[in-house]
Amino acid sequence: MSDLRVIAIDGPAGSGKSTVARGVADRLELSYLDTGAMYRAVACAALRRGVDPADAGAVVEVARTIDLELTRDTCFVDGVDATAEIRGPEVTGAVSVVAANPGVRTEMVARQRAWATERGGGVMEGRDIGSVVFPDATLKVYLTASAAVRAKRRAGEAGGQDVAAVGSDIERRDAADSGREMSPLVEAPGAVVVDTSDLEINEVVDLVVGMLP
Ligand code: DC
Repeated sequence: MSDLRVIAIDGPAGSGKSTVARGVADRLELSYLDTGAMYRAVACAALRRGVDPADAGAVVEVARTIDLELTRDTCFVDGVDATAEIRGPEVTGAVSVVAANPGVRTEMVARQRAWATERGGGVMEGRDIGSVVFPDATLKVYLTASAAVRAKRRAGEAGGQDVAAVGSDIERRDAADSGREMSPLVEAPGAVVVDTSDLEINEVVDLVVGMLP
């Protein structure tokens, strides 16, 4: 694993992870994997197949059998474009319970490691990349931002939604992600913590690229 060049970017929703991770990957011409999109895709496939997201055993079966094709900008689930669907309210509402399912995590982590191994590494963003998926990553970054800034960013992304409503949704998901038993959202040992509240995206990308050994 140690000969892989993995850049792990973890942090809560709205911390700037996706934009920064894409920026770093583009700058360094590395592949990019959004692992949150993988958990969203499993939730999406479960909903499409009429599986209750809370039915742990049935959802693990979905995770094992899902045909998942992720690129930098698209997501295909079982051969059907799900790029918009995985960001929609149904999937967003179901994803926390899916991501807290240990059997789903085992399957997704195996796929994430295989993805990196096939490419010699890449930029991977998520919640547990530096703590669980690649604890010996080349560089581990933990992005954070104030709750107010995170709610504002997410509301803007969602096309001008109510900031207070988005804020409480983020808080609910933060609590679920941080409080779950398996692979909770944590600052991994050895991760560099960057508060992005008052930084422009390019400044954060510069910082991260500058940290690379
Ligand atoms: O980053 P996001 O909001 O698209 O993530 C979707 C969900 O998946 C969110 O509840 C956190 C969870 N997740 C996770 O548990 N582990 C990861 N590596 C990435 C995301």
